[in-house]
Amino acid sequence: MLKRVVVTGASSGIGAATVRRFAELGWQTVAVARRADRLAALAAETGAHTIVCDVTDEAQVIALANEVAATGGAIALVNNAGGALGTESVEHSSNDDWRQMFEVNVIGLRNVTAAILPVLRNAVRASDGENWASIVNLTSTAGHDAYPGGGGYNAAKFAAHAVTNVLRLELAGEPIRVIEVAPGLVHTEEFTLNRLRGDASAAQKPYENVTPLTAEDVAQVLTGAVEQPRHVNQDLIVLRPVAQSSVFHTHRGPLEAKA
Ligand SMILES: NC(=O)c1ccc[n+]([C@@H]2O[C@H](COP(=O)([O-])OP(=O)(O)OC[C@H]3O[C@@H](n4cnc5c(N)ncnc54)[C@H](OP(=O)(O)O)[C@@H]3O)[C@@H](O)[C@H]2O)c1
Repeated sequence: MLKRVVVTGASSGIGAATVRRFAELGWQTVAVARRADRLAALAAETGAHTIVCDVTDEAQVIALANEVAATGGAIALVNNAGGALGTESVEHSSNDDWRQMFEVNVIGLRNVTAAILPVLRNAVRASDGENWASIVNLTSTAGHDAYPGGGGYNAAKFAAHAVTNVLRLELAGEPIRVIEVAPGLVHTEEFTLNRLRGDASAAQKPYENVTPLTAEDVAQVLTGAVEQPRHVNQDLIVLRPVAQSSVFHTHRGPLEAKA
């Protein structure tokens, strides 16, 4: 079976860890993001084929799909590129931030999915029934539970969750499974820093006195779902740190068994 996967948002955090994990599992990887230098470092480490692409730009995404097809095709896609901007209330947030969040988390996901689907189908058809395809969308627990200050990010990730469900229904009858991975608190280098517009000290706060998930934890679970037997679809995977029992409940300090 062809084992080649396209991972968007691969220049940092969960995307980079996912490329590393797939490579360890013997997959060929195509790593996609806007920052060429970071992709080059990942390629040197993992052997990934890299493609510089802004997922919100339709022409760039079409070029991406053409390059994936011309360099060996793909049997799996991980739509991971995304992020949050701001923690302001609905009343006080900025439309520009909301537009950017919708562009990358929703329109970008749709762009890449639409362009890569024919590539996945080609790989399935070429294998005479041997291959089956997987599409993994990274949403968030913020796509399932609203919280104050979540505004545009909640709205974008709820939308990504809805699109994922629509896609699964529309692909019924094809050997293509659609998997949603919705993590809670994950400590990655840039996610909260970007959300808080570069305020490094505030960006540390969510991770204080708690053991959050790592990008590697998410990558392990995600790749495990893609490696399930062909008839199995883990259609929604919610993963959180043990210390976080909901978006509103994060236990700070040691975890101890009750007396
Ligand atoms: N960290 C968390 O707590 C958490 C929790 C739940 C869900 N998530 C979701 O998981 C995904 C990854 O998060 P992360 O923590 O790994 O974030 P991250 O470290 O900030 O990584 C985001 C990645 O997306 C890429 N990206 C952003 N805009 C892009 C665009 N227009 N075109 C192409 N690539 C783009 C970035 O690369 P370039 O800047 O080089 O393009 C980067 O590689 C996101 O969808 C996020 O919403 C994160």
